[in-house]
Amino acid sequence: MMSRSIRVSAVLVFGRINQTPKRIVTCNVNTVKKMSEINNRAIQINMDRSRRIVINTARAAWVRSPAKGVWRKPLEREAAESGQVTSIVRYDSGSEFVPHGHPAGEEIFVISGVFEDEYGVYPAGSYFRNPPGSSHTPRSSEGCVLWVKLNRFPADDAQSLNINTRSHAWSAGLVEGLAVKPLHSFGAENTALVQWQPGSKFVNHVHHGGEEIFVLEGVFEDEYGSYPKGSWIRSPPHSQHSPFSHEGCTILVKTGHMIK
Ligand SMILES: [Fe+2]
Ligand SMILES: [Fe+2]
Repeated sequence: MMSRSIRVSAVLVFGRINQTPKRIVTCNVNTVKKMSEINNRAIQINMDRSRRIVINTARAAWVRSPAKGVWRKPLEREAAESGQVTSIVRYDSGSEFVPHGHPAGEEIFVISGVFEDEYGVYPAGSYFRNPPGSSHTPRSSEGCVLWVKLNRFPADDAQSLNINTRSHAWSAGLVEGLAVKPLHSFGAENTALVQWQPGSKFVNHVHHGGEEIFVLEGVFEDEYGSYPKGSWIRSPPHSQHSPFSHEGCTILVKTGHMIK
């Protein structure tokens, strides 16, 4: 949403213009680049995708966005207002965000409430994809909470998608007790909703291209922990686990998208 620029030189002058400057600091281009790198590192969040990350978003604080009434819980972030981002976003009733483009696409799941833009109205359970080069002006009359992933599309994935997942039937999963609603596939990347009946287990498996899960309902589990509703789990490429759920759960899961 914002372009980045590096000033070739910077001179900071302290004091009034008709006075002898008390202090002059001159930064050469290497210093400015270094400062920019330090600033970018400071605003980057969880961008080392070789690390496993677990965040219980229900316990995380909302962070104010540039738009009044729009709040975020950042999960991973490449830069302040641009680049790759995954976050939970809340629109208060009657709020809107500034018009913006998605240079490398935008993917949204509506967790609760109703999200809107000039192209449609998206109730809870909607999953939609705005391809690279798209733009819109989002808003919400009644308020909503979203899972949002920005600027992660392969350059040649130009498909627009809008699925109301609540009007789709579940398909049988690979093992008893699991049901699936496939949402999107492109190359090695797959996105789906998976419903786990209480007491169900899945086999040990490897995520060659990484795995990302957001727990929508219930409690998801594996040998590393227990993840209640609102948990976000990012497992790196070539990681493996043996998941299960004692009480049952519904998860949004993406695989294969961490290797390009
Ligand atoms: Fe957007
Ligand atoms: Fe997995």
